[in-house]
Amino acid sequence: MMMHDFHYRKGTLHCEGVSVLKIAEQVGTPFYLYSHKTLTEHYLKLEQAFQSARPLICFSVKANSSLAVLRALVKKGSGLDVVSGGELYRAKKAGCPASRIVYAGVGKTDSEITEAIQFGILLFNVESIPELERINTIAQRLSKRTRVSIRINPGVDPHTHDHIATGKAESKFGIDLQTARRIFRNAAHYSSVSLCGIHVHIGSQIVQGEPFVQAFEKVLLFVDHLEAEGVKIQFLNLGGGLGIIYSDERPQTASEFASKILPLFRSRSFRLIFEPGRFIAGNSGIFVTKVLFVKETPAKNFAIVDGGMNDLIRPALYGSFHDLWPVMKKNQSQKFSYDVVGPICESGDFLAKNRKISKLKTDDLLALASAGAYGFTMSSNYNARPRVPEVLVRGRKFSVIREREKRTDLIRGEHVPSWV
Ligand code: LLP
Repeated sequence: MMMHDFHYRKGTLHCEGVSVLKIAEQVGTPFYLYSHKTLTEHYLKLEQAFQSARPLICFSVKANSSLAVLRALVKKGSGLDVVSGGELYRAKKAGCPASRIVYAGVGKTDSEITEAIQFGILLFNVESIPELERINTIAQRLSKRTRVSIRINPGVDPHTHDHIATGKAESKFGIDLQTARRIFRNAAHYSSVSLCGIHVHIGSQIVQGEPFVQAFEKVLLFVDHLEAEGVKIQFLNLGGGLGIIYSDERPQTASEFASKILPLFRSRSFRLIFEPGRFIAGNSGIFVTKVLFVKETPAKNFAIVDGGMNDLIRPALYGSFHDLWPVMKKNQSQKFSYDVVGPICESGDFLAKNRKISKLKTDDLLALASAGAYGFTMSSNYNARPRVPEVLVRGRKFSVIREREKRTDLIRGEHVPSWV
């Protein structure tokens, strides 16, 4: 499916007002390309849909942590959801106010906790009792009081890929309701922590509203029990997880989502927080790669491209589908079936399988769609491949927002001891 800000003009793929071919000529391949318009519009769609509740929307940095992307969203009013000291560093560099940062994750280190408390972030999302104890001790040592949400595990099945489902009872994430209740009863024990929020995130790429409604209803029941015991909940963080279109999904729109969710929270006074990643960044980006060789075997046709699973791992890791677009359309009605595979020495190294497209040849450019979330951020240097550049388009302008890594970047920080 074609996205609005990626379209063909005279047979050439464009991102907003810029030809993808022109960018490829300037920066070389492979590269990631993002549309500023799609990115910011998706943030605004969510903001508008929930306007009446004025939630804090914290873009999930893990989806796309490029400074320019973060900056663009922060300028629109977005907060950021971070899960490591590194992401907190990026959030600071992007100019995100501390009051708009929430920090999740099951394994925070002492130095990460210290840095976040010192910076004065809005909330920690806490995932276990030992973590809560640790945050309390560190805050005490720093003579600070810090705000905490307890991430609860509501035990619902989000009907998504197993690797990205987090709200089931057997998952490592969150705290079961009984334990969470004990924590709140015991709040006085945590004297340097203000236990003022509940956090819930049940998984990712969830296309239906039902799992969310189910989870949030459970959360509200839980909040009712707490409030009956005199606990005051100020923040309710509903996580991320909104699904997008990769192929033929029909996900809820932001306003459909809001019309299902908002009624649940009417007459409630807490501040809502969302942590969407994919919904905002997913369809704002493509991955552009070049055909090196076409290899026809008795069983299959392979288009061997210069981008691999180290650059875009989602197909290899989850069997994910990314639509395949030629950068230059050909005037041929006959289509051929190809597996688009990378140069990495693993059979799992593919970007697309069994796709019908006009006949390919060496130097043809291809784009993998919907690669703006969990694309670059999950890329690696496997097979000693420099990570690719990221380019941002706005209208007729484009800029390289992250340079292609150099050979020297590959060995940066390495030492060969004299005794080797
Ligand atoms: N909040 C928490 C606590 C999360 O764990 C996540 C994602 C999000 C928010 C953002 O979720 P989103 O709105 O993007 O669905 N690498 C996988 C996705 C992993 C998601 C991890 N957590 C993929 O490529 O599909």
